[in-house]
Amino acid sequence: MRFRMDSFYHLHLYICIVFCSVSQCFTNQVKADQTAQIIVNASNAVGRSIPETLFGIFFEEINHAGAGGLWAELVSNRGFEAGGPHAPSNIDPWSNIGDEVYVNISTERSSCFARNIVALRMDVLCNSSGPNICPDGGVGVYNPGFWGMNIKKGKTYKVIFYVKSSGSLNLSVSLTGSSGVPILATANVIASASDVSNWTKMEVLLEAEDTNHNSRIQLTTTLKGVIWLDQVSVMPLDTYKGHGFRTDLFEMLTELKPRFLRFPGGCFVEGEWLRNAFRWKETVGPWEERPGHFGDVWMYWTDDGLGYFEFLQLAEDLGAAPIWVINNGISHNDEVNTSSILPFVQEALDSIEFARGSSDSKWGALRASMGHLEPFDLRYVAVGNEDCNKKHYLGNYLNFYSAIKQAYPDIGIITNCDGSSQPLDHPADFYDYHVYTSASDLFSRNHKFDTASRSGPKAFVSEYAVTGNDAGQGSLLAALAEAAFLLGIERNSDIVSMASYAPLFVNSNNRRWNPDSIVFNSSHVYGTPSYWMQQFFTESSGATLLDTTLQTNSSSLVASAISWKSSMDNKNYIRIKVVNIGSNSIELKIYVRGLDPNSISGSSKTVLTSNKVMDENSFAQPRKVIPVQSPLEAADNVLDVVLSPYSFISFDFLRQSSSLKSH
Ligand code: AHR
Repeated sequence: MRFRMDSFYHLHLYICIVFCSVSQCFTNQVKADQTAQIIVNASNAVGRSIPETLFGIFFEEINHAGAGGLWAELVSNRGFEAGGPHAPSNIDPWSNIGDEVYVNISTERSSCFARNIVALRMDVLCNSSGPNICPDGGVGVYNPGFWGMNIKKGKTYKVIFYVKSSGSLNLSVSLTGSSGVPILATANVIASASDVSNWTKMEVLLEAEDTNHNSRIQLTTTLKGVIWLDQVSVMPLDTYKGHGFRTDLFEMLTELKPRFLRFPGGCFVEGEWLRNAFRWKETVGPWEERPGHFGDVWMYWTDDGLGYFEFLQLAEDLGAAPIWVINNGISHNDEVNTSSILPFVQEALDSIEFARGSSDSKWGALRASMGHLEPFDLRYVAVGNEDCNKKHYLGNYLNFYSAIKQAYPDIGIITNCDGSSQPLDHPADFYDYHVYTSASDLFSRNHKFDTASRSGPKAFVSEYAVTGNDAGQGSLLAALAEAAFLLGIERNSDIVSMASYAPLFVNSNNRRWNPDSIVFNSSHVYGTPSYWMQQFFTESSGATLLDTTLQTNSSSLVASAISWKSSMDNKNYIRIKVVNIGSNSIELKIYVRGLDPNSISGSSKTVLTSNKVMDENSFAQPRKVIPVQSPLEAADNVLDVVLSPYSFISFDFLRQSSSLKSH
């Protein structure tokens, strides 16, 4: 059924009155006949600009998201430092090859690197001849990486290690299966005693002859003597732009088109105790010299290969604005008094100079020496994470705020205190808002910002997700409630400037937090329904929010509409997004006002749904719940569609430039 646009409103009112009263009578008997209509005014002139930064990502070093994840380093605990600067140290997951009759493995504080002083010592007791002959294949150590290394046929791996020896050296460096066989790639590193009597850097390129997702590196010898090893690294050559990011995981991020990257946490920034918090100065400079640290909130060691510099590089590579979360002298269990906070403030100022300073400045020079001569585009800083109620937060915050504003007036500062329900008692450019809750609660929070103050700082929803029973390890139900919440954010993007799901990544071998957006192991990756849900919003940042009215007798619907110009083909599009979180199908009539029907072409619809609302993706079925796109039949400015139960649907219309009528 088609209406002429000018008469449509009167008719619509009439239909609505009849329809509403009739449908009330039948709601309980006829489940399928819920109906709705959405009226979209296609005119950008009555729309509102959505912030360029609205949707982005939040990367936290949690669930081995970085170490053993996005950071492509394959060796875990490469400097034997996981026990801290003590000897004996914790060398896990390193292990010996050959028993104590043949080889003795210990640690010593004898490294050439002052900030990570622990080195591995191997006393090789056997020899290639004589009374104690080494076993076949030799003796030594191996490292299985993060639950097995993914070694792929034809790919090249750069192995770097530092070595010292009491005599001449003949070391086999091999990538092998998990038990030492098969050998996938191997090389012998041979040196005279005088060449390795002091610490020496060795570099070997290994090309794999076969594929094995559960491999290890081993360093073995059959020569008696003492060998010291330190900073053993295995990096695939094919990381993104050679910047060290695992390519398959990086691609998952680019497909979200994130406009900002909040990093490096979360609780990871705070630590359970300040001594284990993220301290940026210990994560920059040559990787070999970084001490690494034990993240005591998520309970694992990181070598900090993915350090402050690499996070800034990641943001730049993604085309995302970096949002640097600074430790403000507060952890989960201890706090620095405001009277003693200045060293922390100085550390924050130094970090900004590192990112933005000229290469003549002290910290800018360090950045330049790491290969990034030009400043990074750092424009946002968050002071702490979830610390608003801590005793010294306000005092500490004010010190950070005034020092940063004085030195860098253009930097947007984010407070931990929620300004959505009451005005803040301190200055800020943005306030942080986190929400982890049930599906029904998050769904209802699509109205959360409808009533928030329109003056004062803007909201940064830096962590949101459905958690608990409704979410499992990433359900369709969770994704639908999150979609509704984001539609509310889109609608309120006059006061919400940024939003990101949390957490981003989980290595399935170390699920510290459920659910997450992207699940991976050494070789495979998939997106949860929440990941795919976010792809519906990739065009929203910087788009125009269109004036939209949704009329329905169903309480399970939320909708919004945007228009944008694609940078790919320079064409103009309209996208209408609708969530139906209910168990009924709903007949929806879409009216796009102000659009010449003849000028619409190339329209499509994309649906995220599944047979059961608690369906999840998995390694076995990675694409069970993903968006499915199809052409829209009879693309027109009046459209009858059926929204299936538990679905998130977008309708994309391509419009010609002359298509907008004047009003
Ligand atoms: O996203 C997981 C954790 O949830 C974050 O570290 C913290 O900010 C929040 O409590």
